[in-house]
Amino acid sequence: ELKESLTTKWQAPSNIALVKYWGKHGVQLPANPSISFTLDACRTITSVKASKGTHGFSISYDGVEKPEFAPKIKAYFERISSYCPWITSYHFEIDTHNTFPHSSGIASSASSMAALSACVMDFESELTGTSLDYHKMSFLSRLGSGSACRSLKGAAVLWGEHVDTDGSSNLYGIDKSDLLHPVFQDFQDTILLVDKGEKVVSSTVGHDLMNDHAYASARFEQAQSNLTILKKALKDGDLDTFIKITESEALTLHAMMMTSHPYFILMKPNTLSIIEEIWAFRKETQIPVCFTLDAGANVHMLYPSEHKTAVDGLINNKLTKYCQNSHYICDQIGTGAKKC
Ligand code: PMV
Repeated sequence: ELKESLTTKWQAPSNIALVKYWGKHGVQLPANPSISFTLDACRTITSVKASKGTHGFSISYDGVEKPEFAPKIKAYFERISSYCPWITSYHFEIDTHNTFPHSSGIASSASSMAALSACVMDFESELTGTSLDYHKMSFLSRLGSGSACRSLKGAAVLWGEHVDTDGSSNLYGIDKSDLLHPVFQDFQDTILLVDKGEKVVSSTVGHDLMNDHAYASARFEQAQSNLTILKKALKDGDLDTFIKITESEALTLHAMMMTSHPYFILMKPNTLSIIEEIWAFRKETQIPVCFTLDAGANVHMLYPSEHKTAVDGLINNKLTKYCQNSHYICDQIGTGAKKC
């Protein structure tokens, strides 16, 4: 039964992929499976009021109306309406904000689409009297932004059909927290903000360029086998293998960009300087710290929390000089979306 009005507020985190999603087909279906660590500090907090009446929405950021966000949300509502027909009977007032700085180069599409989908599914469970459906929450957020489906539930989330993973699906992410050996359970992600500017090529365009990419099929097969190897490393607490796969995946993602037509480069000189410093530090100290990259110039440093003091030393002595305004963000592995 439809209620006159409903309100809710949810927060959802960003995530960082270890095996990368790059290339898609159909309606946001991944060309290969990916796995990510869920983050904690980098989050979007979204409150929604739904009122029965003509379908539509308003969108504000921290109370300030943001018409520039409307096209993405309109497209999202259109895509999800056949799965949630009740939404067409409501008007939605959406207010959102991120815990990370607006133009930090950290994409907010994953956390924002995850938070909005959590609000939608919260309403649906209230209207139908059923419990929260996290698979459907992830399914809906995938329709907003592919990687968003890995930001709902669990410390590690796998999305996409994987030859060796029971229950894996192209339609939604599955919680793989049970895989994690204790050494990964308190992993840190320090994000070095190399470039806060707008990307020269969007992820949407980048995904599309995989369609007739010369190396596409080899890459998609490699992601399958890297995932098999990485899953075992996560289970065994095998940091050496974790580092090899994670860094190789980051460089492969950027290699795909450099070998697309048209080709493009999202790394900056400082990205490479940081990578070299991390390699030198790891060689010298034997501390298992590694890097990964998303579709941008920023560097994510991943390491077990017991090495936080040593890594802080490296950052302060050697790495902040490569960051814009010396800016970096300390994050760690989290658990997913939460009701506020
Ligand atoms: O979710 P999208 O379409 O913004 O794509 C994200 C792609 C990467 O961040 C580069 C990799 C990933 O798996 O998150």
